[in-house]
Amino acid sequence: MGAKITMAVSGLIMVAYLIVHMLGNLKAFAGAADLDKYAEGLRSFGEPILPHEGLLWIVRVVLLASVIAHIASAVVLTRRAKAARPVKYAHRPPVKGEGSYAARTMRWGGVIIFLFVVWHLLDLTLRVVNPVDEVPDVYNAVVQGFAPERWWVTIFYVLAVIFVSLHVRHGIWSAVQTIAGPGNAWRRRTQIIAWVTAVVLLVGFLVVPLSVTFGLVS
Ligand code: HEM
Repeated sequence: MGAKITMAVSGLIMVAYLIVHMLGNLKAFAGAADLDKYAEGLRSFGEPILPHEGLLWIVRVVLLASVIAHIASAVVLTRRAKAARPVKYAHRPPVKGEGSYAARTMRWGGVIIFLFVVWHLLDLTLRVVNPVDEVPDVYNAVVQGFAPERWWVTIFYVLAVIFVSLHVRHGIWSAVQTIAGPGNAWRRRTQIIAWVTAVVLLVGFLVVPLSVTFGLVS
């Protein structure tokens, strides 16, 4: 049970981050000055009580801990499910948590999202694969990163964000079931919350890269 709770709580922390990150990205529509001011605000937040980038580093440590906890509990739960059915049958009923369609999509979806985040950090945080390497210049990095001639980057982001939304939809559902317990009164409401969160993240994240690629933001 510990692994399931760990997975649920670490997942919900990351969902909270995603919602805040998506809302922050929408500042791109307010223009370069606003987005860059916002990015600078994230770095200087809490000064002088916190050091420069103090909040950012707290968030990074929490996110890294959540990613590690999430992956570790996924490994534990997969091993446990496999141990419950060590012999593979030619025709076997799916074992919940191992072979079920949802479990498999969550596992492979998770791997794809992880690879996307590595690319995304190289692209927009470290700027190794971005045309703009001036780190404070967030607006230009976004506008040049998703420029029409870099359409393949946008397609990659679109696919990744679809995976993120599907993962979040199923994840929120599973997390609440784990925390609230079976037969809880939250089943219907959770389904609605999971769907709404997934759609809001999908639209909110995609609107920025697509607007840049189609020339609405430049
Ligand atoms: C699809 C639209 C997205 C856009 C336009 C976008 C944009 C950005 C930008 C501009 C930064 C750098 C911010 C800065 O340096 O101030 C950033 C950082 C980051 N993004 Fe995204 N992002 C998107 C989606 C995502 C998704 C789907 C995830 C996670 C699954 C994600 C996770 C992160 C993380 C972990 C960071 C690093 C924050 C840090 O430690 O500095 N982003 N993003």
